[in-house]
Amino acid sequence: MENTPVKKKRIFSAIQPSGAMTLGNYLGAIRNWVAMQDEFECVYATANLHAITVRQDPKAFKQNTEQLYAMLLACGVDKDKCIFFHQSMVPAHAELSWVLSTFTQFGELSRMTQFKDKSARHADNVNAGLFTYPTLMAADILLYQADLVPVGADQKQHLELTRNIADRFNGIYGNVFTVPEPYIPKQGARVMSLVDPTKKMSKSDDNQKSFILLTDQPSVIMKKFRSAVTDSEACVCRGENKAGINNLMDIYGACTGKSDEEIVAEFEGKGYGDFKTAVGEAVVAVLEPIQARYNELIKDRKYLEKCASQGAENAAKLARRTIEKVYKKVGLPR
Ligand code: TYM
Repeated sequence: MENTPVKKKRIFSAIQPSGAMTLGNYLGAIRNWVAMQDEFECVYATANLHAITVRQDPKAFKQNTEQLYAMLLACGVDKDKCIFFHQSMVPAHAELSWVLSTFTQFGELSRMTQFKDKSARHADNVNAGLFTYPTLMAADILLYQADLVPVGADQKQHLELTRNIADRFNGIYGNVFTVPEPYIPKQGARVMSLVDPTKKMSKSDDNQKSFILLTDQPSVIMKKFRSAVTDSEACVCRGENKAGINNLMDIYGACTGKSDEEIVAEFEGKGYGDFKTAVGEAVVAVLEPIQARYNELIKDRKYLEKCASQGAENAAKLARRTIEKVYKKVGLPR
């Protein structure tokens, strides 16, 4: 019997260059980006068009974007195995976004929790881009006909909207878009703040102690974990009113591969101090090699630029197929 090659599934994901990456970004999304590269056809981007929905200082912004690119390479994103570029270098994202905005309802965008949060935090700049942000995200994904989108749990609502937009468009014009599925990890899908474990860990938090940056020095990481908020029960086990310990167990599990049962057994009869130290050490062990690679990569700006423009060239080829099809279906000459 003849072997028919099985078509690899296509993956797309992106991350905003709005400051350094957090442990939440890494455990919730980037680890899966890296893990998926061998099995799938992966397309990854820095979402710099998304990041301008919040006012940015141009020089620092450009630098942040480059640093993020280097950090993702340091995490293991491999430019020879996947397509990896800056979103702004492929104009088709903005083109498709406009078309899709006419297939997105005002009511749908109004329900997005990220929009509600961000417009409350930046009340002096609730711009139209902040509102239509999820349509640009849908364009990113649908442009590459992605089957799976590795993200943290906070992006699930945007993925549902993307699926609705794709279904709506396909319902009118035939099967133009692949309808994508979110790909959310079992451990680390929602890493919480170390100061208020009922809130998501986020680099935009005012309190530096609430998040771990991938660039934090080991001593800083240990300090932040030592001061992490827990509870008064002194039991390393999951519980309803134990958001702090639940979060530390998630982080420890994600970094060591240990199950909840193994973690409970390991810390039976021990105090929170021992547990926090162990979590800090596990995180340092994951981040140290990444930091070493990052420190090398960031020195070579030429190399980083070359990788990004090569990635953009390859991405543009894939994107063109979709955008041409969409324009044709809608009746727009190109
Ligand atoms: P962004 O830049 O906020 O975050 C990048 C990725 O990190 C995940 N993440 C987390 N996971 C677990 N715990 C946390 N505390 C945590 N914080 C962040 C996010 O879920 C995300 O996967 N809109 C997106 C960027 C984007 C995108 C796309 C993603 C633009 N276009 C297309 C997928 C597909 C965002 O703001 O992610």
